Amino acid sequence: MDVSVFSPAKINLFLAVTGRRADGFHDLVSVVVLLDFGDELQAEESRIQNSESKRFSLECDVPDLLVDETNLILKAAAAFAAATGWRGGAAFRLTKRIPLGAGLGGGSSNAVAALRALNELAGGLLGEQRLAEIAATLGSDCALFVKNAPAVMRGRGERVEALPAGAVRRLSGRRVLVFKPSFGIGTPWAYGRMAARGGDYLAAAEAEARLTAWVGGTAPAEEICFNNMEPAAFAKFVALPVLREKLRREFGVAAQMSGSGSACFALLGEDFVTAPLVARIREDWGPAAFVREARIA
Ligand code: C5P
Repeated sequence: MDVSVFSPAKINLFLAVTGRRADGFHDLVSVVVLLDFGDELQAEESRIQNSESKRFSLECDVPDLLVDETNLILKAAAAFAAATGWRGGAAFRLTKRIPLGAGLGGGSSNAVAALRALNELAGGLLGEQRLAEIAATLGSDCALFVKNAPAVMRGRGERVEALPAGAVRRLSGRRVLVFKPSFGIGTPWAYGRMAARGGDYLAAAEAEARLTAWVGGTAPAEEICFNNMEPAAFAKFVALPVLREKLRREFGVAAQMSGSGSACFALLGEDFVTAPLVARIREDWGPAAFVREARIA
């Protein structure tokens, strides 16, 4: 048997990191949406199980992605087997479209896709609740991909609440341009810099107040856009703020970093002609820059 699971990218429209916790993680309040673009994960059930270590294998079309046991897909597979007692095996094939080190949630998304693929191969051993619990142990963004809908994330990301319908209507279907320089930003580095700087946090009460006002109002998606991980990243990776300022001046476009970066995004009007904007990005960041138009799911 062979199953194929879509593994979407996410962007954080609103990301308020509110402080560092005793366990080293950070608390945050974030409005997160999934995009209609992402990776494709195929899982083929394998019948030959010579040894435990060969039960799950992973191939990927992108050479710079590690496909060893540090990959979240194989970690998810091990967690699935441990939680369910399933004795089967699977060969995963990942078609990678979400850039790495981007803040687009690719790793967490792949982990959840792996759990879903295995659950299908195993005949649905796990319910949504149990799947969510296992996913939460794998990565901070995993709970969002289990929810699979526009959401508010809290805690270190594991507490996910679906956004009310009125807010979802202002987000779903919106056009987004996602663009990333050829370098990535490591999530631990970005949080570490923020902790070292100390002054970039937004008080939780202030974050919640902004969120409540936007959710309860009628303002468009643009009005909730915010990310306080930007100052730490922008101080080192100056190509980001330089281009952002050009896009604002030349096109009147407000770009923002997603998550811990380095990918940025801009919400676009339906009539907006993207070619000159894309040309500007490529001119500044070079031909290796990733540029992709998508829609909020
Ligand atoms: O859970 P995930 O693998 O996405 O996190 C990677 C790293 O990012 C963590 O080890 C931690 O250093 C940092 N992080 C954090 N607070 C969060 C999420 C991640 O400090 N809420």
